[in-house]
Amino acid sequence: MNKGKHENKSARAKASAADLPVNAGYGANDPKGDDLARNAEDSAGEFLTTNQGVRVNDNQNSLKAGDRGPTLLEDFILREKITHFDHERIPERVVHARGSAAHGFFQVYESMAEYTKANFLQDPSLKTPVFVRFSTVAGSRGSTDLARDVRGFAVKFYTQEGNYDLVGNNIPVFFIQDAMKFPDLVHAVKPEPHNEIPQAASAHDTFWDFISLMPESMHMVMWVMSDRAIPRSLRMMEGFGVHTFRFINERGKARFVKFHWKPLLGLHAVLWDEAQKISGKDPDFHRRDLWEAIENGDYPEWELGIQVVEEKDEHSFDFDLLDPTKIIPEEIVPVRRIGKLTLNRNPDNFFAETEQVAFHTGNIVPGIDFTNDPLLQGRLFSYLDTQLIRLGGPNFHEIPINRPIAPMHNNQRDGYMRQTINRGQTSYEPNSLRGGCPFQAGADMGGFTSYAERIDARKIRERSASFMDHFSQATLFFRSQSQPEQNHIINALRFELGKVETPAIRERMLFLLSQVDKALASEVARGLGATVPAKLDKPMNMSIPADVDPKKVQPKRKNQAIETSPRLSMVDNPNFPKDNIRTRKIAFLVADGFDETAVAEMKRALLTAGAAVLTVAPRLGMLTGANGEQIKADLSFLTGSSVMFDAVYVPGGEESIAALKKENESANFLSEAYRHCKTIAASGAGVELLKNAGIIRGSAEGAEKADLTSGQPGIVVALEDDTKMAPAFLKSIAQHRHWERERAA
Ligand code: HEM
Repeated sequence: MNKGKHENKSARAKASAADLPVNAGYGANDPKGDDLARNAEDSAGEFLTTNQGVRVNDNQNSLKAGDRGPTLLEDFILREKITHFDHERIPERVVHARGSAAHGFFQVYESMAEYTKANFLQDPSLKTPVFVRFSTVAGSRGSTDLARDVRGFAVKFYTQEGNYDLVGNNIPVFFIQDAMKFPDLVHAVKPEPHNEIPQAASAHDTFWDFISLMPESMHMVMWVMSDRAIPRSLRMMEGFGVHTFRFINERGKARFVKFHWKPLLGLHAVLWDEAQKISGKDPDFHRRDLWEAIENGDYPEWELGIQVVEEKDEHSFDFDLLDPTKIIPEEIVPVRRIGKLTLNRNPDNFFAETEQVAFHTGNIVPGIDFTNDPLLQGRLFSYLDTQLIRLGGPNFHEIPINRPIAPMHNNQRDGYMRQTINRGQTSYEPNSLRGGCPFQAGADMGGFTSYAERIDARKIRERSASFMDHFSQATLFFRSQSQPEQNHIINALRFELGKVETPAIRERMLFLLSQVDKALASEVARGLGATVPAKLDKPMNMSIPADVDPKKVQPKRKNQAIETSPRLSMVDNPNFPKDNIRTRKIAFLVADGFDETAVAEMKRALLTAGAAVLTVAPRLGMLTGANGEQIKADLSFLTGSSVMFDAVYVPGGEESIAALKKENESANFLSEAYRHCKTIAASGAGVELLKNAGIIRGSAEGAEKADLTSGQPGIVVALEDDTKMAPAFLKSIAQHRHWERERAA
C-alpha cells in the first residue's frame, strides 16, 4: 500500500477550501470544479472500509453462528451496508424527473453594463462556471429520452455574486398563464392515476381533456405537436427563459428582457416514427449523445440571446409581455447574441450532481429581477418548496453541486444534515457580541435590492383582459411552418387525439384547432374520421371562477403585426443555415471484401468535416477488405440500427455487397433510412444494394451523371468515378433530412 498517498489525503481532508491549491480539481479557470473536488472520492488503490473508516476483512460473508447458522445481529458491517442500501433512493422530481447534465462555462462577448449590472455579464475575459441540466417533463426518471415533450433547459451560473439560475425550456411559451393551473396541468399529463398508463406520453384522455378545456394552451400545443418536441440532440435545440424578466443597470434603470439560447450546431429534429423506434433501440439516445459529444471533445455550444424592451414600450405590443403563452417575434424585436455557453465536462457522479442539483427561478443576482408574470410568480414559490422534500431538508444548498462559489454567511442554522460548522456565539442580527457580523451589504457593495416597481392595485382573483387572445400566436406559429412541418403537426395531432378514447374530448379539440387554422382542423379531423364542430355548447374558456361572466373572458383574436415568422420554423429558419455536419453520425454498411479506398476516402472527408463514422456489418469483429486491409466492425445489424444515424454510405466491393445482399437487415436499414428522409450514398457495387432495397429503381447510370444525386433528393450515387462524391454527400447530409421525400410518399 502507498503510505505516502494516505498521508497526502488526510492532509488534504484537513485543509480548508482556501488552503487547497487553485485548480486542484478539474483544470485551469474552473473555480466550481475546484470546489467540487473538495468532496470528490476515488477508491483506486485504497482499502475497503466501513463508513467509520474501519478496514473490512470479508465483504463476501455475513457473521453467523456456525457456517450454516443464523446471521448475528452483531454484524455491524452487514447492518451498515444493508441499511445504507435501503436508503439509497430519494424521490424523483415531481416534473422534469428524466434529465442529463454537464458542466461548462459562460463568457459574455462584450460588457452588458448598459443594460445590467450583473457581474457575470460585464467582463468578456471572465469565465463563469455553469452546470446545465436538460430534461423531459412528463416521464419518470427511467423513461425514454425521445418522448414527445417539452425539454427543460436549466442553467446554473456560479457567479462571483452568487448563483443565478435560468430555468428555461426548449419551447418559448407555456401551456398555462397562471401558476394556479400548474398542478392541474401536471396531473393531467402524467400517467393516469387509476392505472399509471401511459408513461412519458401526452397521448391519453386526461391530458387532452384538460387541454380541450384550456384554450390558453393552444399556442404551446402547436409547439409541442411540432418537431421541436422530438429534438435530434439536446445539443441541437434552442432554449428560452420563457417569462419576461428585468435587467437593471448600475444607475437603477430597468428594461424588460427575454432570454434565448441559440445552438451553434443548428436546430434539428427526428421524425416521430424515428423517435418511437429510438425509444426501443436506445432509450438513452439523448443522454448518450450529450455524454459522448463531451467525451469526444465536441463541446456543445449555445449563444445567449436577449430581446430587450424599454419600459415605455411595455404596452406597445398586440399581446401582454407578462403573458407566458406569448413570444415576442424576432422580426419585431431582434435577438441580440451577447455571449457563449460551452459544455466541456461530464459529471463525475450522476446522483451527486445531476440528481441532486436544485435549480430555482428565485436564484437571481443583482442586475436581474422578476416581472409580475403570474406563472413566474408561482414558480418563485414552488422550486425551493419542492426541493425541501426532494432533497430532505433545509440544507440542500450545502450539497456540493448546489453551493455557490461566492462566500456564504448568514444566521441560518441547524436542520437535517447540516454540514457547515458555524463558529461563534451569535446566530442573530443585529448583534453586538460579534461586532454585528455578518453585515448587510449596501447596494454599492453588491447587496441585492429589488426593483422598486410601483404597484397600486386592488387585490383580485382575475385574469387581465390583455391575456385573452389565445389563438393569434398559435396561428402565427402554424402558418410559419414549412409544408412538411405542418404535415408533422397534423400527424402528431392525429396520433395524440387518435389515442384519446372519449369522443367529446376529440370534438372539443377539433373546435379549438379550427380557431387556430381551419385547414389544420379539417386535416386532423379527416385523419380521425371525425368532423369539426361548428360551435361548442359550453363556453370555450372553462378555466375561470364560477362567479365570472364567461362572455367577458372568452378568447378573442387580435390583429398581429406580422403574418408569419420564419424563425419559428426549423426548416426555413434564417438563424440556422444548414451548412455543417459537425458531430453527425454516419453509418458505413460493410462486409468482408469492402472497397478499402472508397471507405478510407469517404471516412477522411467526413471526419475532416467533424462527423463521426461507424461501420455496421453482418457480424462483429475484424472485417477484411478486397485487398486484405482490416477494419473493425463497430456495430452489427443486431446492435446497430439506421435510427441511430443521420446518414448511410454503402461503399463498393463486389464480395461485400454480395454478402450484404444476403442479409435482410441491410435492406431494412436502407429502406428505413430512406423513409426517415436521410441522405444515402453508394459507390461502385454499393449502388446495387440501393437497387436491391428498392431505393433506386431502374438504372442508376443516368443518375450518376445527374450531378451525383440520382435525381432523388438525398440519394448520392457514383457508379465508377467516386472522386466527386464526398462533397455532394456532405452537402446533402447538412440538409439534415430530405422532407420532400415524405411528400412524394
Ligand atoms: C407555475 C408553473 C410551474 C411550476 C409550479 C413548476 C414547478 C416545478 C417543480 C416542482 C420542478 C421540480 C424541481 C425539483 O424537484 O428540483 C420543476 C422543474 C423544472 N421546471 Fe418547472 N414549474 C413551472 C413552470 C415551468 C416553466 C414555465 C418552465 C420553463 C420556463 C419550467 C422549467 C422547469 C425545468 C427546466 C425544471 C427542471 C429543473 C432541473 O433540471 O432540475 N417550469 N418545475
